[in-house]
Amino acid sequence: ITMLQRWILRLYHAVALLLLVSASEDFDWTKNERTSFYYGTFPTGFSWGAGSSAYQTEGAWDIDGKGMSIWDVFARKKGKIISNETGDSSCEGYYKFKDDVGLMKDMKFNHYRFSISWPRILPSGLKSEHINEKGLKYYDDLINMLLENKITPIVTLYHWDLPQVLQEKYGGWQNVTMVNYFNDFANLCFERFGNRVKYWITFNNPWSIAVEGYETGEHAPGLKLKGTGAYKAAHHIIKAHAKVWHTYDTQWRSKQKGLVGISLTADWGEPVDISNQRDIEAAERYIHFYLGWFATPLFNGDYPQVMKEYIGRKSGQQGLGASRLPVFSPQEKSYIKGTCDFLGLGHFTTRYITQKNYPSGLGDSYFADRDLAELVDPHWPDPGSEWLYSVPWGFRRMLNFVKTQYGNPMIYVTENGVSEKMMCTDLCDDWRMQYFKDYINEMLKAIKDGVNVKGYTAWSLLDNFEWDEGYSERFGLFYVDFRSKSKPRYPKASVQYYKRIISSNGFPNQREVESWKRKAIETCSSSNQLLAADPLIGHMEMVTEIVVPTVCTLCILLSAVFLMFLLRGRI
Ligand SMILES: *[C@@H]1O[C@H](CO)[C@@H](O)[C@H](O)[C@H]1NC(C)=O
Ligand SMILES: *[C@@H]1O[C@H](CO)[C@@H](O)[C@H](O)[C@H]1NC(C)=O
Repeated sequence: ITMLQRWILRLYHAVALLLLVSASEDFDWTKNERTSFYYGTFPTGFSWGAGSSAYQTEGAWDIDGKGMSIWDVFARKKGKIISNETGDSSCEGYYKFKDDVGLMKDMKFNHYRFSISWPRILPSGLKSEHINEKGLKYYDDLINMLLENKITPIVTLYHWDLPQVLQEKYGGWQNVTMVNYFNDFANLCFERFGNRVKYWITFNNPWSIAVEGYETGEHAPGLKLKGTGAYKAAHHIIKAHAKVWHTYDTQWRSKQKGLVGISLTADWGEPVDISNQRDIEAAERYIHFYLGWFATPLFNGDYPQVMKEYIGRKSGQQGLGASRLPVFSPQEKSYIKGTCDFLGLGHFTTRYITQKNYPSGLGDSYFADRDLAELVDPHWPDPGSEWLYSVPWGFRRMLNFVKTQYGNPMIYVTENGVSEKMMCTDLCDDWRMQYFKDYINEMLKAIKDGVNVKGYTAWSLLDNFEWDEGYSERFGLFYVDFRSKSKPRYPKASVQYYKRIISSNGFPNQREVESWKRKAIETCSSSNQLLAADPLIGHMEMVTEIVVPTVCTLCILLSAVFLMFLLRGRI
């Protein structure tokens, strides 16, 4: 064979391989294998950590020159947040970050995910107006502290706290000019932190920003622009993400060698009946309106076909001249496509989905546009938040869907966890240990299926301000006593449990894994006593404010008896 022939042969092989890889298999809706627990470990170098966000944990809402965010304003409006709470002080993370890095170090985290508050750095939102050096310094110190402890920072640029000025003056994400303002802010962060930060997340859960901020109004800025507001906000967010990715790509990547991704949060949607084509299509629609709304433009260049069809048709029936779903120009499509170095995935729960028609004329909304109904199985455990049912197999389905749909991208799980509702806490959170065990195990199975998951981020490090739910839902590995001024942290049993998953890099064998829970419960009983005995005064305040304090009263009584017992022992 001549040299040329050999080259042609090689080229032929390369092309054939490429075709094989790119001919993505389709997701198989009709096969939902629910296998038993899988003992095994994660690939070497798998990254473990936990997450937080600025408004939920920092507090210090008006300190050192910080400007107001839309959440500072929204939480102050009466009746928006349970018990009219705010994030004004929250966990006081702004002051306690050194302690918190200590907690992470003790758990041997590989990474920590946190967000930068835009108005802490740019109080008026605009880089051209004022840069707040004190705000920059806080994040400098945090990043340095993490690196000194060998913890990789994964930094979110937008975790919902838009500078209030930009909302008031320009209408926030309804206005396309946010794209440039956000790009200026991101560029400043790359400039100041990019020598040390290598993992950037542009937006956290844009679905929630769009739908809850501009459609239902449950979140800041609290607008109810039904059927249009969410689509418009999402359109601008996608453009802003792409612009920031390009800024990094052209100006910083060669020097800083980092990655820029986005964090999408989505539930899994399982067809009620996997042998019914209409249910399968409804479930597919559910996912495309949720995850695909953002992932499909970023990976494939445009909105999902099914969104364009449904929203377009319904807009027509309503007599509108154009679809309520905005359109990307051909230039925009190619600019947006491929702007995700990794996909951050937040996932908590699953729904059963079935077809349901919403005739037009009942008022348009994002939800009606989908023509489907969401159901839950009453047997699913729901330990905490009303919406959060524990359905571990849905996680594996979701991860496999992402693999087949978007060309097996690099995935970092950026949020996964479960809350508890009890006001008077029990640190022995066996339901959370169970949730982590089962969800992390399904993620391990997904990796065996060939899904490219590189890291896992438990949500969240601390109990924190849970948006419109105030402090009534606790997602933390660590319990925070919000009634006490110093906001002390107490480890829940799940801290011990997660620590063992991390140190074993998975689930080595049945005997060992089964001993973890017992050992964790042993340690949490003593923490429980600590919590019960320590800030007793704080708890007494709490009781006077609670309407139906039966469970709490019991706890207080018990801790009082315990305290008396202690005191008597000392005398
Ligand atoms: C919250 O504020 C509203 C309006 O002022 C008031 O009606 C409501 O009772 C408050 N709720 C609590 C729990 O304080
Ligand atoms: C959008 O923002 C620009 C400034 O960047 C402003 O001139 C314009 O009025 C805004 N549009 C709306 C609808 O608020």
